[in-house]
Amino acid sequence: MTDQPTQETLANLSREERRFEPPAELAAHANLTAEAYARAEADPEAFWAEQAQRISWAQPYEQVLDWSNPPFAKWFVGGRLNAAYNCVDRHVEAGRGDKVALHFVGEPLGDTRDLTYAQLKDEVSQAANALEELGVEAGDRVAIYLPMIPEAIVAMLACARIGAPHTVVFGGFSADALASRIEDCGAKLVITADGGYRRGAASALKPAVDEALVKLGDEGPVEHVLVVRRTGQDVAWNAKADGGVDVWWHEVVGESSTEHVPQAFDAEHPLYVMYTSGTTGKPKGILHTTGGYLVGASYTHWAVFDLKPETDVYWCTADIGWVTGHSYIVYGPLANGVTQVLYEGTPDSPERGRWWDIIEQHEVSIFYTAPTAIRSFMKQGREIPDARDLSSLRLLGSVGEPINPEAYVWYRSVIGGDRTPVVDTWWQTETGAIMISPLPGVTAGKPGSAMTAIPGVGADVVDDEGRPVPNGSGGLLVLTRPWPSMLRTIWGDDQRFVDTYWSRFKEQGYYFAGDGAKRDDDGDLWVLGRVDDVMNVSGHRLSTTEIESALVSHPKVAEAAVVGAKDEDTGQAVCAFVILRETAGDGGADIVAELRQHVRKEIGPIATPRQVMVVPELPKTRSGKIMRRLLRDVAENREVGDVTTLADASVMNLISSGLGAGKGED
Ligand code: WTA
Repeated sequence: MTDQPTQETLANLSREERRFEPPAELAAHANLTAEAYARAEADPEAFWAEQAQRISWAQPYEQVLDWSNPPFAKWFVGGRLNAAYNCVDRHVEAGRGDKVALHFVGEPLGDTRDLTYAQLKDEVSQAANALEELGVEAGDRVAIYLPMIPEAIVAMLACARIGAPHTVVFGGFSADALASRIEDCGAKLVITADGGYRRGAASALKPAVDEALVKLGDEGPVEHVLVVRRTGQDVAWNAKADGGVDVWWHEVVGESSTEHVPQAFDAEHPLYVMYTSGTTGKPKGILHTTGGYLVGASYTHWAVFDLKPETDVYWCTADIGWVTGHSYIVYGPLANGVTQVLYEGTPDSPERGRWWDIIEQHEVSIFYTAPTAIRSFMKQGREIPDARDLSSLRLLGSVGEPINPEAYVWYRSVIGGDRTPVVDTWWQTETGAIMISPLPGVTAGKPGSAMTAIPGVGADVVDDEGRPVPNGSGGLLVLTRPWPSMLRTIWGDDQRFVDTYWSRFKEQGYYFAGDGAKRDDDGDLWVLGRVDDVMNVSGHRLSTTEIESALVSHPKVAEAAVVGAKDEDTGQAVCAFVILRETAGDGGADIVAELRQHVRKEIGPIATPRQVMVVPELPKTRSGKIMRRLLRDVAENREVGDVTTLADASVMNLISSGLGAGKGED
């Protein structure tokens, strides 16, 4: 079922000889040193217990891990805590209330706001009071659909404070995607904004919520929509027969008391549900709980970024709509009490050097971004960052997809001035926190390699039978033991949780990550990408099946197959092959644009196919399964591989000969 990396792809990986030793100064004061690996390995639970001390517990736990019913884990059993208290109040109580928590930078020039920890505590408390006022109780779900503004963080922490799991939906997702997530988790409140600023203009968000509410119908779960006024755009106001649905944030939150006593919740109380693409059309609601997740997020943020909370200024460019924003903007950094930048807009607004201006202005010392962004800056040329003073940077991080060695070296030398280590961090929505990464004070960095599991984590590369592969070979990436920030289940679907992650290597008890990896001659890991029907476009996970379902929902489409093809800018790009219905004829001159637009509307702009190819047939096995491998060959302009398992071997000729047109541009 899986396409394992072949020996050929492995051999094609550049023979990387470059090594970058940790800077002496950093190594001398590193948070974690080499001894941590052996110590953690000798007794992982004791190591995690040590990490649990970074968190304030209202009631201490009795047992580090209960793994008596795998794969359903319980961490820090019996412990009680409040995540928002840990991220905000305790810093204020420790006398750090005047410290800046957020340097908010809006996209319009000059639109900035600093929030101290004390101010954040007040706002989170107000929002918590407002949510309670609106009838939200512990255990109720709240959907958050907001731009990158402070209220997004306030909203998440307010939910955590009252024990209402949040589900943040990326603002780039469509009304349909939003509606299906609201429905799946039964969210009773939606927090949104009139809009946000992107690419130099106000971009509306509220209409998508309105549309989602229509789709959900009168019987839908949503009782209220809390609307932040950000852009001042006109908004339609929803009302149900029995009273108002929409309420303004500034009216209800702004009028609430800044006093709110956080209640302690069980360590296993649900903290949030984050939807991510799986191999079927239905996104999976990944459930994270409170204690273990907070320990994992804060420990990794401290260890992997060598965080010095007193002096560092940290910036992660992810959107809070993805897991990276949850773990490395909200829960990790705030639990650690650091000062960070929160930027609303796009890197090129109003001009291309915007990110570097922000780094210069706020003297950012730790910067965390994605390879796709780095590649686009490489393309624009080094003159742009070179014109700014980036000397405050001391550490760079990368996440979301494999970073190719050239991008790594460019990042290190041009952005990092050849001083900064680069940590290539591998993890997933499901893992909640970084699992594989160099340690900046220990590891000699190797461009393109995520290196080794961090202390406490067990990772391996295994063959189909679950046997570790020798150095120099490839296989499947697994995690060999439970970890505190692991997903607990898929929301409402325990069976899918078991089947997706734990059935493949049931005997060994391994978590199967869905990624292929190579262990090089030194034993270091290279993550090669997904081995299932999941694509990675600009670091965003998309399911081929989800896009196929969107395409076949178009009246002119009979069948569709989607593959992720290599793309210089975005890592992978969506390529769609469609068979039109007979009634549609040739589909008309605009068929390609029409179908691209349709996917955009159904899922969101990130899912828009780079290419749509209208074909007479699709390659299928005798059992009817589409052979995506062959379509990938076509999409990547390669000679088509082995066709002997096709039901009809001539199909590929039909497809190849009919192509040539169909590449759509934005
Ligand atoms: C990929 C994002 C190579 C991988 C945190 C994984 C990576 C998926 C890396 C998870 C990396 C993430 N090197 N591949 N450093 N980081 N990936 O859930 O395929 O959005 O399975 O989490 O991204 O994507 P997700």
